[in-house]
Amino acid sequence: MSETIRFSLDGHEVEAQAGETIWQVAKRLGTSIPHLCHRDAHGYRPDGNCRACMVEIKGERVLAPSCRREPTAGMEVSSQSTRAEKSRTLVMELLLADQPAQENAHDPQAEFWKQADLAGVQTSRFPAKQKSVAPDPSHPAMRVNLDACIQCGLCVRACREVQVNDVIGMAYRHDAAKIVFDFDDTMGQSTCVACGECVQACPTGALMPASLMDDTQKRAVTPDRQVDSLCPYCGVGCQVTYEVKDDKIVNAVGRDGPANHNRLCVKGRFGFDYIAHPHRLTKPLVRLDGKAKHADDSVDPANPFTHFREASWEEALDLAARGLKDIRAAQGPRALAGFGSAKGSNEEAYLFQKLVRTGFGSNNVDHCTRLCHASSVAALMEGLSSGAVSAPFEAARDADFIMIIGANPAVNHPVAATFIKNAVRERHVKLVIADPRHQSLSRHAWKHLAFRPGSDVALLNAMLHVVVTEGLCDEAFLRERADHVAVGESLRHPSSRLGVHRRAGVERHRRGPAPGHADAVVPHQRQHRANVDHVGQVGQRQRSGRQQGRRHLRQGRVLRPADADRTLEPVPALDQQLFHAGASRPWLSTMKWYTIGLVNGAARRRLPGRPSREVA
Ligand code: SF4
Ligand code: SF4
Ligand code: FES
Repeated sequence: MSETIRFSLDGHEVEAQAGETIWQVAKRLGTSIPHLCHRDAHGYRPDGNCRACMVEIKGERVLAPSCRREPTAGMEVSSQSTRAEKSRTLVMELLLADQPAQENAHDPQAEFWKQADLAGVQTSRFPAKQKSVAPDPSHPAMRVNLDACIQCGLCVRACREVQVNDVIGMAYRHDAAKIVFDFDDTMGQSTCVACGECVQACPTGALMPASLMDDTQKRAVTPDRQVDSLCPYCGVGCQVTYEVKDDKIVNAVGRDGPANHNRLCVKGRFGFDYIAHPHRLTKPLVRLDGKAKHADDSVDPANPFTHFREASWEEALDLAARGLKDIRAAQGPRALAGFGSAKGSNEEAYLFQKLVRTGFGSNNVDHCTRLCHASSVAALMEGLSSGAVSAPFEAARDADFIMIIGANPAVNHPVAATFIKNAVRERHVKLVIADPRHQSLSRHAWKHLAFRPGSDVALLNAMLHVVVTEGLCDEAFLRERADHVAVGESLRHPSSRLGVHRRAGVERHRRGPAPGHADAVVPHQRQHRANVDHVGQVGQRQRSGRQQGRRHLRQGRVLRPADADRTLEPVPALDQQLFHAGASRPWLSTMKWYTIGLVNGAARRRLPGRPSREVA
C-alpha cells in the first residue's frame, strides 16, 4: 500500500500520495492555483521558476511554490491567504507588463491569459520594458516571437528533457537573457527536428504553429472543433487531437495516449496538409475514350482532365469490375492478384482477401507489411512464440540495458526514440547501438558498434556465446520459459567442441554433415547458416540475404575462425570475434542486460561499403 500524507489545505484535512505536490493535490480536489512554468503533463518536471503558484505554509517565513513543494504530515497550507494571493498577483502583473496587450497579442487565446484571469489580473501597474525583438519566421512550420516570452523555461524542458533534442537553451545574462536555438541561430537554421514539443508547451504564444498565424505574426485561425484521432503515419500509435476549421485540419496537438504521452514527431505534428492538397483525388476518374496509356505520356496532377473525366462511384466500380472479370475470363483466375495496404483496418484486410479469394478465385493475395516486417515476425515467432512486440516503448524506462540493432528509431519512429533517450538521460541506462552507420541516437549511446555489413547474425551469435558460456543468462528463467534447453553445467561448459547451440543445450533443427565430411562447417558457421536459412523461408529479401550470407561465408567476410581446412575447431575467443566485428571486449562480459529488441527489416538489409571499426 502506498504511503499517504495527511495535511491541511485551506482549512480542510486532505491526503496526498507519496510524491504528489501541493499543486497536484489542490488540482485533484478542485482548487485552481495559477501556474505558468509548470506543465501538468507527462515528462515535465516542475521547475519552480515563475512564482505564479505561491502558497503560504504555517510556520514558514517565506512562501512556497506549490508546483514543486511536497506536503509533509501535519503541514498547514493556505492557497487563499491574502499574502499568497498578493504574491501571485504581483508576479502576474510583472509578467503582464512586458506582454503586448491581449487584443494585440500573438495568441490572445494563450494559456498565459487564462492564468492571468485566474489570478484576477487584467492590467499591470508597472511600465513595460523597452524591447524590440524581431520575429523569427525562418521555420516553415513554426513561428518564434520572443517579445511574448516570459522565460518560463518550458520550451527548454520540452526540447531537452521530454524529446531530448537539445536544441533550445537559455543564453546570456540579466535582462539580455533569452531562449536561443543552438548557438543563437534562427529556428530554421538550427538543428531543430520540428517535433513541435516546444510549441505545444509554450504558454504565451511566443512559439506557435505557422498554420495558425498570419503575416503580422498574430493568430488568424481559431478552430471551430476538435477531433480525437490516431496519427496515420508509423506504427507507434500516437494519439492526436486535430483542430479543425471549416472542415479543414489546421493544427495537430499530441494527446496523452499510452504510446506517446502527448508527444508527436514532425510527421504527426505538421504532416497533415496533404489531406487538403489540391492534387488529391476526391472523386473517381475514368480515362477518356481515345486516351490510351503511353509510356512517354505524362499527366499533370494539377489538371488530370486532359486524360480523365470525373465519374460516379457506381460507374467507376462497374468499370473496374468489368476489367477484372475480362482478365479472369481471358487468362484465368491466377492472372489476378491482390496486394493489401497496412493502412487498412483488420476488417478491411479481411474483406480484401475475401474479394481476392472468392471474387477473383485466386489465392494470390498479400500484404505490404510482409515486405518490411516478415523477418522480424519470423524471428519473434522463433524466439518468443509471438509475432508481436513484447513490451511498449515506454518500458525502455525500466531497462538497465538497451540494445538497438537493425533499426533507426530516431528517424523511423521518433516518438519511440524519445523514451529510449529519456531512459539514457534520466536513469543513465546503457544504450548500445549496433549499426554499420552512425545514427542520430548514437550520440546518446554508451557504445556504437559499427559492425561490418552482413555480420549482424554472427555478432548476435557471438553475444549469445558469451552470455551462455560465461553464465550471464538467467538459468531459472530459461528453465521455466524456454523450450529444448538443458540448463546446468552443460550450459557453460567451455571445452565443448559442439558450438553455441550445443553449449546452450539447444537442439538444433538442422543437423549439418558429420564432422570430417567435406561439407562440414565450423559450429558457428553452421548456426549462422541455420539462422539465415530460417529467415530465408520468408520472402525474396530473406532469400537474397541467405544467398548473400553464404557468399560472405565463402568469401570469409563473416566471423569465422582461422581454420581454412574446415575441420571442427572450438569457436575462437570472443575477443577475437568481436575485434573483427568492431567491438571491444569488456562491455560484453560485464553487462547485465535487458534488451529492448527493435527489430525491423533493416536488420536483413546488407549495406554496401566497409564501415569504420571505430567504437564511439
Ligand atoms: S520543435 Fe522540437 S526539436 Fe525543434 S526546438 Fe522545438 S522541441 Fe526542440
Ligand atoms: S518561448 Fe514560451 S515556453 Fe519558451 S521560455 Fe518563452 S514563454 Fe516559456
Ligand atoms: S508554476 Fe510554480 S513556480 Fe511556476
